[in-house]
Amino acid sequence: MQVANCVVVVTGASAGIGRATATVLAEKGAHVVVVARRAERLETLVADLAQFPGERLALAGDLSDTDFCHAVVEQTVAHFGRIDVLINNAGLGHKSYLADLPLEHARAILDVNVLAVLATSQAAIPHMRRQGRGQIINISSILSARPLPNTAFYSASKSMVTALTRGLRMELRNSPIVVTTIYPGTTQTEFHDSALGGDGTGNVAVTRVSAEKVARKIVNAVEKGRTEVTITPLDWAFVHLNRLFPRLGDWVVGLFLVKGK
Ligand SMILES: NC(=O)c1ccc[n+]([C@@H]2O[C@H](COP(=O)([O-])OP(=O)(O)OC[C@H]3O[C@@H](n4cnc5c(N)ncnc54)[C@H](OP(=O)(O)O)[C@@H]3O)[C@@H](O)[C@H]2O)c1
Repeated sequence: MQVANCVVVVTGASAGIGRATATVLAEKGAHVVVVARRAERLETLVADLAQFPGERLALAGDLSDTDFCHAVVEQTVAHFGRIDVLINNAGLGHKSYLADLPLEHARAILDVNVLAVLATSQAAIPHMRRQGRGQIINISSILSARPLPNTAFYSASKSMVTALTRGLRMELRNSPIVVTTIYPGTTQTEFHDSALGGDGTGNVAVTRVSAEKVARKIVNAVEKGRTEVTITPLDWAFVHLNRLFPRLGDWVVGLFLVKGK
């Protein structure tokens, strides 16, 4: 798909990977709808991107509210007449062992990481069918293939994103809609500091890439219609070796990381 003049919704655009993705899209001339709770950050982003061709629209709200998820899609279509690409990027982590994880944190993670992805996709599909084209891109994680101690519920939510995305791809295989999963590894963003229950310390970082590198891979997936995207060769090996040899993965994690409680 040509990115110039595309109408692209990016959730979680007030920071990190979402902000970088909105920036790369704007550089290439896309019309970008930026979504997050922090309205002032979105306004700053829209101002920063004014130098590039195309239009920007900021929609501030909480994606754990299903009505807002639907409104994001409907307001995009009302404003631009269509929605070409939906990038479900907003996400939330946690730092606690499963035995200690407060259920309200688990619910908050499910709401944003999983149910918002489903709700925005459900809202976008009829428009994309009508248009005869569209792409839904869901940001999963390499941790969907291998939970690590202290972040296992987050990993479980990303496993749901991976399964949901693959299921959607099969269900839409005879439609004009491309469905894509992105598997970032550890990326330099605020994510680890804003994780629920965390104090910003003790992050596990096997490799750490820039948000811009992930953003360029996401935009490349739009341009090339890619469906399964990892960011680095090490991420690729992490995902596929853990799927092929799960017990070996358990052993390695046990060897190098926290032993569990
Ligand atoms: N960073 C990593 O190492 C890494 C690795 C693998 C996968 N990922 C995934 O990549 C995606 C982006 O993460 P990031 O690293 O860029 O994190 P980030 O810097 O913390 O950004 C998260 C974004 O999500 C938004 N968000 C969170 N809760 C929201 C809610 N209830 N409603 C609306 N927006 C909400 C935040 O905006 P507001 O706070 O303004 O609402 C922010 O814009 C996430 O899905 C994450 O799981 C990240």
